[in-house]
Amino acid sequence: MLTVAVLISGAGSNLRALLEAAADPAFPARVVVVGADREAEGLAHAEAFGVPSFVIPWRGAAARDEWGAQLHAQLEVWNPDLIVLSGLMKLLPGAVVDAWSPRIINTHPAYLPEFPGAHGVRDALAAGAERTGASVIVVDTGVDSGPILAQERVDVLPGDDEHSLHERIKPVERRLLIDVVRRIAVGELNLVAASTP
Ligand code: GAR
Repeated sequence: MLTVAVLISGAGSNLRALLEAAADPAFPARVVVVGADREAEGLAHAEAFGVPSFVIPWRGAAARDEWGAQLHAQLEVWNPDLIVLSGLMKLLPGAVVDAWSPRIINTHPAYLPEFPGAHGVRDALAAGAERTGASVIVVDTGVDSGPILAQERVDVLPGDDEHSLHERIKPVERRLLIDVVRRIAVGELNLVAASTP
């Protein structure tokens, strides 16, 4: 059984989808802990599913390394097989990435390498893109620059705003994320191989 830690910053709708998938005894992974950089709304999903959670409060970019050390220490307590960044809106310090790589994956609401960063949906709209998408990647020390594990296109529709487009992307992200976690758990997807150039 693959053990998974999920890190969030916000509503945690993708986390919830993963918790629901993992509640099926036939699903080969379990969420063992949920972490956040703030008192995120999405922590309620962990509670609803009886999954422990922790918060390592973000105290600004100047304290990033210290935050990373606390996060790493907390993750070590749970020692998950896989860490899923599911809407964690902070860049992990290099030391944390190095400690867990390649066992950290990230969901992103764009078709990487298009529109990386914190505003993938907004940036696609601002660029006038007709199509954007969703991606699941291995986290490296860059910004959304790691190896792509799964991705799918989503059309931008006339009249779309950031919210409507993001709400159409999220179900695609969820499906991709759940499938990637399943494939890692059953050995169909090897993160070491996926991360080797
Ligand atoms: C998701 O779309 C996720 O891909 C995105 O934040 C959203 C979180 O939604 N992450 C990023 O943009 C990271 N660069 P949720 O909290 O409802 O799951």
